[in-house]
Order: sequence, then C-alpha cells, then structure tokens
Amino acid sequence: MADDPTPARPVRPATIAVTAGRPPHLPDAPLNVPLTMASTYVAGGDLEYGRYANPTWTAFEDALGGLEGGRCLSFASGLAAVATVFDLVGQDAKVVAPRHAYHGSIAQLADLESRGRLTSVLVDLEDTDAVVKACDDAALVWLESPTNPALEVADIPTITAAAHAAGAYVALDNTFATPLLQRPLDDGVDLVVHSVTKYLAGHSDAVMGAIVTRDDALYDVMKGRRDLLGAIPGTLEAWLALRGLRTLHLRVERAQANARELVRRLAAHPAVTEVRYPGFGGIAAVVVDGADRADLFTHSTRLWVHATSLGGVESTFERRRRWRTEAPTIPEGLVRMSVGIEDAEDLWDDLEQALDLLP
Ligand SMILES: Cc1ncc(COP(=O)(O)O)c(C=O)c1O
Repeated sequence: MADDPTPARPVRPATIAVTAGRPPHLPDAPLNVPLTMASTYVAGGDLEYGRYANPTWTAFEDALGGLEGGRCLSFASGLAAVATVFDLVGQDAKVVAPRHAYHGSIAQLADLESRGRLTSVLVDLEDTDAVVKACDDAALVWLESPTNPALEVADIPTITAAAHAAGAYVALDNTFATPLLQRPLDDGVDLVVHSVTKYLAGHSDAVMGAIVTRDDALYDVMKGRRDLLGAIPGTLEAWLALRGLRTLHLRVERAQANARELVRRLAAHPAVTEVRYPGFGGIAAVVVDGADRADLFTHSTRLWVHATSLGGVESTFERRRRWRTEAPTIPEGLVRMSVGIEDAEDLWDDLEQALDLLP
C-alpha cells in the first residue's frame, strides 16, 4: 500500500471529492484530517501562527482546489472572499458586475463606490454585447453565473476573452454551479469565488468562503490580504466544509434531478406566472402574482422551509424582495427555491398544496 494518498493518475471529480485532503495511508493514521485547534505552532516551520495557516484549512483547500483545478484559499465567509477580490483593484478603477448578482456583493461595490474607492458599472449579464462593451477600461470584471436570484447565465469564454483583451482580471462567483457543473478556470477566468456556506459545505451548519486561482502571483496577493486582514475561517467550519464536500457529487446530482422534475411541474401550475431555471443545478425561482401571494406560498408548506441561504440537503425557499437591498428589478413575487435531496414526490405534494391555496 502506498503511503501517499495522491492518486497515481488524474482522477475524476467524484473521486477528488472523496479522496483529496486525506492524511497519508500509514498505520494508525486517521482517515480524516483532525481538527487542529491551534493559535500558534512551534517556531521554525511553515505554519508559525494561526492567522497564517492551519492544517484543517489546508485539507479543505486541497480538496476544493482539486475540484476547481487551481490553488485554493479559504476565508471566513463568502463575502470575505468577495471583499478580498474587490480589494485587488487600484484607486478609481472600473469594476463591471451583473446587476442581479448576489445583493451582498453589489452592496460591497456600492459601499466602495460611495467612499470614492472605485467605479462600478452594472450590466445585464445575458446581454453579452453590452458586457463586452463595458469591459473597455475595466480593471476587474466580476461575474456570477448563474446569478442569485435571477438565474441568468453568462457567456463566460466570450466575456473572459474581452476582459483580458482590455487588461482586466475576471473573477466568477461559482456558488450556484459548484465545480461539478462549471469549472470557470478552464475558460480562462482568473479567480473563482465560493460561498462555501452553500453547496460545498452543504448542511446549513457553517459559514465560510473560498477563492481558487491558477495564477501564483494572484494567489500570493490573496494570501497576503488574508494574512493581513485576518478574514480566516474557523477550524471547525473548515472541518465541517470538508466533511460536506465528500458527498458534493451525490448531493448535487440528486438536487439537480429533483429540481428538473419540480420545474417541469411548477411551470404547469396555474398560480405560477414564470419559472426560472438555467437548465442545470438545484436552484430555481418561481414568480407568483405579487408579494402577498408569494408570502402566503412560502408560509403554507411543511417540508419546504422559508429561510434565506441555499445549497443545503433540505429544501428551502425565500421571497427575495423581502430584503430591502435586493435589486428592484427582481419581481416582488419571485420566490427563490433551493431544492434539496428529499424525495421529489414529497417535495411536489408540499408545493402543490401551498400553490393551490393561492387566491
Ligand atoms: C452567490 C453568492 N455569493 C456570495 C454569497 C455570500 O456568502 P456568505 O453568506 O458565505 O458570506 C452568497 C450568500 O448568499 C451567495 O448566494
């Protein structure tokens, strides 16, 4: 038996999810990396201090880096990772972003802009020509695909080529797709960002973020920012996220199968005016007529939980405009649905009886 658990030849994503970030195969070694609870390490090695490094983070980073095909850094939250990427650009730089990206990311851009730090240009992500035009003079093109909650999809290779021609970095929030359904680094994207909180951890029990890149210089800049600002994950969160990641392929496959079936049925229900689904993944959105009906819908189920966040094993849904920071172009009656891994028939029965109640 080889001590080194690294496979001899390249392996497929499901195998990476299960095997990456494991301790060496030595007698009495644990199969799972332990929780290293340490604020400091004996001097003279590579770790030194708990804000710089932690072996439990490293195991998670090896696994997610393996799935995305780059080098990974974990962060305290998805938004800590987003902030680290926005900090990359110089004073007065132009940043292009989708108008329907996650409202927290847009709020960060608005905050930076209000303090004179940068200029942001918000675009319709599906109007590729407009996005390409907006890349001119940009320092950073921020993509999120599919978007939260509008579920718009970007033409990643075309936009990335245009951004690079303009000398801009391209970062993509891959939270909804996960590296199993989309590997943006293969399309030339410079930085992939995740809210690990969602599918990667997968059990609604940890808040964490990550950045993955193939560019060593960018990795060093991001690591330098993390060391300096201290937006580091907790050790337990990293351990939970790695444990969640082990079943990512099974969870995503099941959530996607459930979502496809539910989307088909939702589209045929008379109370539903619109269904948005990018064709892949476990997130969909339905639009019903107005906020009141959407609120009645989200409060009339037993299995589906009205809760923010997404990507857990359990099905959750949320009327997004209940957040005053959500984009005003999102319909009042839009309910984002994070389809879980329960039995699809049970999920449908619960949704159908709630939709049937709508006046
Ligand atoms: C697409 C997307 N990106 C980033 C974030 C922020 O991540 P976190 O909540 O882990 O800070 C979220 C959170 O909902 C999200 O949906």
